[in-house]
Amino acid sequence: MRLECALIEAKEEINWYEDDSFWEVFGPELFPAERVNAATLEAKQIAEMLGLKERAKILDLCCGIGRHSIALATDSFEVTGVDRTESYIAQARKNVGDEPLSINFVIGDARQFCQLNTYDAVINMYTAFGYFEDQADDLRVLLNVHASLKKDGKLLIDLTGKEVFAREFQLRDWHEHENRIFLRECEVDCNWSWLNSRWILIKDGKKYEHRFGHRIYSAVELSNLLYRAGFSEVNVYGGLDGSPYDERAQRLVVVAGKE
Ligand SMILES: C[S@@+](CC[C@H](N)C(=O)[O-])C[C@H]1O[C@@H](n2cnc3c(N)ncnc32)[C@H](O)[C@@H]1O
Repeated sequence: MRLECALIEAKEEINWYEDDSFWEVFGPELFPAERVNAATLEAKQIAEMLGLKERAKILDLCCGIGRHSIALATDSFEVTGVDRTESYIAQARKNVGDEPLSINFVIGDARQFCQLNTYDAVINMYTAFGYFEDQADDLRVLLNVHASLKKDGKLLIDLTGKEVFAREFQLRDWHEHENRIFLRECEVDCNWSWLNSRWILIKDGKKYEHRFGHRIYSAVELSNLLYRAGFSEVNVYGGLDGSPYDERAQRLVVVAGKE
């Protein structure tokens, strides 16, 4: 009887990244206007970094509210944006409005989404990789991406690398915007392979609190996983401007090619 109860409880538990309320509560903190606007320049940097040809087909995996999808489609690329969070996909579609863009938004999970030999490029932006407890799931995502790319296609992943976390580590920080206070606390776990976070938002007299964790990759660890997934050439940068991944790097940007 006890065992049965435990099983029922275990089934009901959901992973933090599958909790819509997390994305809904923190959406305004993740995507303020400046970050949405920054995607216009970032899309141009992505196109240059990947050497995208006119009308190239791009998959924006974990596209959120479609910041890069829309900017890339505005630059005449053919874009598919995939994300598991329905409210973000609805927002992305709304953001397109009546613009005649070649863009398709799909609700889907990165562990399952796969369209054989379809895309010239896949992008995964703003630390949308490393959420799964089992690293086999990270590998599964990369295998799907590899299979979905055409020959000579490229994958670009942009995230906060382990080296940057280590340099900028802050146990706690907080920001105040208009009528909201956003507080963050984090701890390094599992020998620097995992970061546990606690985010609190205080808004309209209410307190929202979520705890979550994700894997933190060094440049070498992420490159090795990409090679394991079948990518042939992996290049590492410290930003979308192509700067080196050195002690001044702000981001970890990895570009991997499929032969
Ligand atoms: C930090 S946001 C980045 C969004 C977007 N790439 C950007 O730059 O604005 C991470 C996104 O990953 C999505 N996500 C989380 N787990 C996912 C999964 N298993 N499959 C697909 N999308 C997922 C979330 O819904 C969220 O939109």
